[in-house]
This record gives sequence, structure tokens and C-alpha cells, in this order.
Amino acid sequence: MKITIVGTGYVGLVTGATFAEIGHHVLCVDNNADKIRQLNDLEIPIYEDGLEELVVRNFNNGRLKFSTSIKEGTKFAEVIFIAVGTPPGYRGEANMSYVEKVGREVANNMSSYRLLVEKSTVIVRTSEQLAGTMSKYLKSDIPFEIASNPEFLREGAAIHDAFNPDRIVVGVESEKAAKLLREVYEPIISRSGCEYLEMNIASAELTKHACNSFLAMKISFINAVSRICELTGANIDQVAHGMGLDKRIGPSFLKAGVGYGGSCFPKDVDAFVRMSIEHGYNLDLIKEVQRINIDQREHLMRKLQKELWVVEEKTIAVIGLAFKPGTDDIREAPALYFVPELLSRQAILRLWDPVATNNFRRTYPNLNYCDSIIDCATGADAMLVLTDWPEIQGLDLAQLKTVMKCPIVIDGRNVFSPAQMKRHGFIYDSIGRPTVKN
Ligand code: UGA
Repeated sequence: MKITIVGTGYVGLVTGATFAEIGHHVLCVDNNADKIRQLNDLEIPIYEDGLEELVVRNFNNGRLKFSTSIKEGTKFAEVIFIAVGTPPGYRGEANMSYVEKVGREVANNMSSYRLLVEKSTVIVRTSEQLAGTMSKYLKSDIPFEIASNPEFLREGAAIHDAFNPDRIVVGVESEKAAKLLREVYEPIISRSGCEYLEMNIASAELTKHACNSFLAMKISFINAVSRICELTGANIDQVAHGMGLDKRIGPSFLKAGVGYGGSCFPKDVDAFVRMSIEHGYNLDLIKEVQRINIDQREHLMRKLQKELWVVEEKTIAVIGLAFKPGTDDIREAPALYFVPELLSRQAILRLWDPVATNNFRRTYPNLNYCDSIIDCATGADAMLVLTDWPEIQGLDLAQLKTVMKCPIVIDGRNVFSPAQMKRHGFIYDSIGRPTVKN
């Protein structure tokens, strides 16, 4: 099949490369000329495990092409996926201007039937708005349809998720649209054996926001329980383990920490709350999820402050700048809260991340970026763990203690065990577990 994908961010590029790999002919369109030039030179603008290999292979075999022209994209294929960003708008609502623009441009350029598929995360009933816009901009009475196909892949595991989805959700309202999307996904369904769900468009759109809000709720729930653990002497690792073995609850997304970040949860949870209010229902449940998430990082800051007493002139080793391991994405990363906060308190910062330093440098060009965790911790009065990179697990704790000026570790991801830290003589505070004083 021929498929056009508009937007070459995480979702668009991964989807395009995956569709090409399963045999489709894909044209990826982006209005960012720099990005398209990079891709045509086989430079991958984002870090995602396995993506480069897929892009290179399918570019070289001719099944994956890149262009800046939406006109070309509209001509190229009957099925056009919209995978442009829906970043927070100036009031925090999802900014739909990029999605709307794709609708207008496709309408301007199409001369026969087109199916526009919303892959970007959109609020429920976006399809009606999009259809309205397209009708206004169409030059003649050319047929078109909208479908919804929300994306559930995780950054850092995107390629794996694209080939092995838990389910594929499709919102369609005609047999023609249903047939086209079944044809797109048939190779993935037969390879992975995943469930393929067809539903009406509003349900598909809503499923996406409901999933992300539910997962964020699980994280805030376990973080709230971790606070009770700290007040009562319980241990969150043991409580989460005990909860997760109940099949109705499940063990995933029960890892307590500094709170969720990334380009999706904070934005989508916010958009879900706003959308529900607009439709006449006050989702206070999810507002509380947001409040707990913000409070969690402030709580970690209070822990650091408590151990140091005075932050001014203290050297702090910040471990982890990406919002989670396996990605160089720093959007809504905890580090973007802690770094300015600590700088405003006159702390001296040393920063380490295996892949995200280049992105962080764009906002903070003059900070001290280190090549290894040990280098970062050298001379530090305290170490602050913000991302659970696997590299931290292999650390020589005896060496770490020797290089630090003062052996204080504040762990926002529970990467060390209190017993292990006690044995090595650290002062150690983590989330929802006993503090080690030594
Ligand atoms: C999330 C969803 O998991 C994907 O299904 C969805 O497609 C994606 O958003 C999206 O809407 O595009 P992602 O943002 O890549 O994926 O990251 P997650 O792995 O879900 O982690 C989100 C945040 O939650 C991270 O900051 C992570 O550290 C935090 N988290 C996750 C916890 O604090 N505890 C946990 O137990 C799990």
C-alpha cells in the first residue's frame, strides 16, 4: 500500500519506518526543511533504539521517502496519517493548529478520495472539527473521510511497541475506511497476533486520553502511598509488590519516584481535564493526579534541602536529565524543575546523562556536563538521582563514596537499596522507604 505520514517526530517517524518495514511504500512529510534534509542524509534527528537501522534499510530499498511537500504527500497516497505535534497551547490546552493546518493543506491539494487518519493525540471530537475545516477548504465536492488511530508506543521502546502492540485501536465510521486501515495493519496483526479493535471515532479518540490519564493515575497513586509509607515505617517496594501480584491491578506503573514527565502524560492529563470540563464534567480525580505529581518533586527537593541544611555553595551531582531511561527526550523531565530551582538557590551543579546532555545544553549551555557518574559525583556534597539509567546499577559504591565530598544520596527513582547504602556508609533518602542515616 502507499501511505503518507505527515509529521516526522517520534510517532510519525517510528510509524513511517515500521510501515515501510512491513512492506508498504511510505512518504513521510514534514514542513521542517532541516529535518527532512537530515533524514534524506540518513541522520536520525531523535535517539530511539533500533530506529536508525529501520530508516536506513527502508530508505535504501526505496520503500521510505521524505519530503517537505504536503502537495506531494497528498498526491502520493489515499491514506494520510496525521502525526504532527499537539503541544500545550498558551492556556495549557492542546494546541490543535498543526492538525488543523494539515487538514486545510490536504483539502487544498486533493483531487480524489482521501482518508485522513488522526495518529496525533487529539481531544475527543477532533474529527468533527477536522471534517468541518476540510469541507470549507475543499475546492469541489471531493469525498474524504476522517478516522482515528491513536498511538500507544512508549519512547525508548517505540520500535518494539510498534511491532508488538497490546492492541490496535481504530475509530472508523464507514466500511471503506475500515477496509483501508485493516489493510494497513494486516501484516502487524498477523505477525503479532494482537487484538484489532474497531470502534466509533469518538471512542477511539477518548481511549487514548483515558489510557494515559489512567497510567498517570497509577503513578500518582503509588506516589501518594509512598508518602504514607514514609510516615508509618512501611516500605513502598514491598507494598507495590504486594499490590502488583493482584492480577486485577498488575505490577506495571507502580514504581514510586519523583513523578511522571515526558511529552505525553503531563500534556495529555491536562488536556483530558480541560476537555471534560468543556463537556460539562469536572474530572477532579485527575486534577488530584496532577497535584500529587507536582508535589512529589517538591517533596524530593525538601529531602535534599533537609540533608544539606543550606544549599547555597553546595556542589550537587545531578544524575539523569532525560525524562526516563532509553531516550534523549528532556520534555517535562524532572531535571528541568530541579536545575533552575537549585541554580536559584546558588548551588553549584555537575550534570550527567548518557544521551540527553546535548538537548539539555540548548537550554543550559554553560553548566558543567560530566562524562561519567563518578566524574559527576567527584567533589559533590550530594548526589541527586532523577532518571533510573541502568548505568547507575553498575556503579562501584565504594569508589562513589570515596570521590564525594559528603556521602549524601537523594534518590528520586529508588535505584539503590537502603540496606546496600547503609553498608557502604551513605546518608541515603529515597521515595517511600526508610532513610539511612549512618
Ligand atoms: C506514554 C505511554 O506509556 C504510551 O503508551 C503512550 O503512547 C505515550 O505516553 C504517548 O502518549 O505518546 P512515554 O511518555 O514514552 O509513554 O513514557 P512512559 O514509559 O509511559 O513513562 C512516562 C513517565 O512516567 C516517565 O517520566 C516515567 O519515569 C514515569 N513512570 C512510569 C513512573 O514514575 N513510574 C512508573 O511506574 C512508570
